[in-house]
Amino acid sequence: MRRPVLIAHRGASATAPEGTRAAIREAIRAHADMVELDVQMTRDGRLIIFHDERLERTTDGSGRLSAMRYAQIAGVDAGSWFHPRFAGERVLLVSQALRLIPPRMGINLELKRTRQRRALLQRLTQLIRWTRKARRLVVSSFDAALLAPLSHHLACALLCRRHPERSLQHAIRLRCVAWHPHISVATPARIRCAHAAGLRVNVWVVDDPGTARRLIRWGADGLFTNDPARLRKAIG
Ligand code: G3P
Ligand code: MG
Repeated sequence: MRRPVLIAHRGASATAPEGTRAAIREAIRAHADMVELDVQMTRDGRLIIFHDERLERTTDGSGRLSAMRYAQIAGVDAGSWFHPRFAGERVLLVSQALRLIPPRMGINLELKRTRQRRALLQRLTQLIRWTRKARRLVVSSFDAALLAPLSHHLACALLCRRHPERSLQHAIRLRCVAWHPHISVATPARIRCAHAAGLRVNVWVVDDPGTARRLIRWGADGLFTNDPARLRKAIG
């Protein structure tokens, strides 16, 4: 069986608190091929790694992230909710996260929806130029409007949870390099269609080995998983 690209979803988020330094380190230890991290912008324009719109679920802080300054977020504990041994893990800046990722590893930054599209894109472009990691980077989003200005100079992937046919056509029009469907909309016909248009297909989130084998048979190029070490062992 062809070996898929294993993408650590929010870092190795089954074994460490999502999006933190610990989760990235776990993904590296697990020899994941790529790490996926969610990106949002604070009120004062700092790009941080964070999934939710609010702090409550994964930190000891509270509030809506886009309404807060980075200084208000920098000190919150992003590890204890997961397990006490991760106490003191912090919300990472994108620049800090990028520095942790070794050269052999791919990087997938998922841009979360925002009302500040222009500002976010400006910050991202500055940051990427500065880190010189563009070659290993795939930028993804559910929001096609965030990808449109990027896809002529960066590898982009459109995420899809619903309306797969429309999403696939969008990804093709946007000149994406990949299509990232949710597992519920990944079918052999759609994977074939994406391939015929020159798109790679990376499916999220796949932790079950049986499902992983089926998707590989169907031709999926990559699998997002919360537990890359376990999935790698299970699928050989
Ligand atoms: O990028 C794949 C996946 O992360 C998209 O959904 O909600 O986990 O960011 P979510
Ligand atoms: Mg994500």
